[in-house]
Amino acid sequence: MPTGLRSPSDDRSVRHDPGRRGAGPGALQAEVGVVLSEALPGVGDRVLSSRELACAGSVVVSRRDLWGDLVPPERHHRWHALLHRRDNYDVWLLAWDPGHQTDWHDHGGSSGCFVVASGRLVEQYRRARSGRAGSRSVRPGSPVSFGPAHVHNVTHGEGSPALSVHVYSPALTAMTYYRPTSYGFGAVETVAVDSPHGTRDSPQVTGDSGGGRGGGLAGAARLAIDDLLAGARRDLQRRPSPREAVEAVAAGAVLVDLRPSEERAAEGEIPGALAIGRNVLEWRLDPLSDHRIPGLASYDAEIILVCSDGYASSLAAVTLRRMGLARVTDLDGGYHAWRAAGLPTTA
Ligand SMILES: [Fe+2]
Repeated sequence: MPTGLRSPSDDRSVRHDPGRRGAGPGALQAEVGVVLSEALPGVGDRVLSSRELACAGSVVVSRRDLWGDLVPPERHHRWHALLHRRDNYDVWLLAWDPGHQTDWHDHGGSSGCFVVASGRLVEQYRRARSGRAGSRSVRPGSPVSFGPAHVHNVTHGEGSPALSVHVYSPALTAMTYYRPTSYGFGAVETVAVDSPHGTRDSPQVTGDSGGGRGGGLAGAARLAIDDLLAGARRDLQRRPSPREAVEAVAAGAVLVDLRPSEERAAEGEIPGALAIGRNVLEWRLDPLSDHRIPGLASYDAEIILVCSDGYASSLAAVTLRRMGLARVTDLDGGYHAWRAAGLPTTA
């Protein structure tokens, strides 16, 4: 196994080994193989095209009689089952319950396709040209095909649990995880996998924006606030001055004031700024949150956070960046710098 790759035994999701009706664990895979060989004549051992990947996923989704009885009614962990595997492609059935997501990842050089069988998924993905994050809702009947460079984060959509069929070609063997930063997506780690769920049950804090090496915040036993702030500023790279913020607002950016209401009442506010309490900020701006602000909570929204002096706002901006809001930043110097620049306030 290549250095740095994790054993598939580290996968904490629950893998179902399909032994159909006592016929042995290979019976279902053989049945699915027959269905796919009929749907994809002449494929042989070659890699599947985008169209063939979509065809394979759609055909398997349409054959619920093959896999419908595999899914346990109650799942306490992420659940998946291998439906068919050969060297040039593999097919998986995945169950998604509220809160499930994969985190940002690629597919180790494989192309792929997923088709929702029931429920709804949300795919955040790295845009090919800009490198920024996009998002789309995926409902049953619409295959999502992607190439070997595709990076995405798939999340259970709102509502009832979802089921989806995933096809990879060549067969999935490794995934690299990423974290979005202001300058693109940075690779965090590569893991060997034996399922599209990878090895992660939930999002992890993976950055090293605090200046620590390798382990990121989760691995930093001690981290002074100055170092944490310096790391946040490095991730944000460019923070607008008050004058630059005025220009950004004129171009469509939104100022979000994080200061407590008492402070805003005492010192005044920036006309047009939207006040959102720091304690609810992530929930208000997460496009996937039930508590989001419609029309503002978007992965493409340009948002400038404002606090008193531009310290706490930097930490908050980095948190939102990690959630995929790639255009969030904060006002250099905060409200006090705005006021000192002679810009309008309500005071
Ligand atoms: Fe994926």
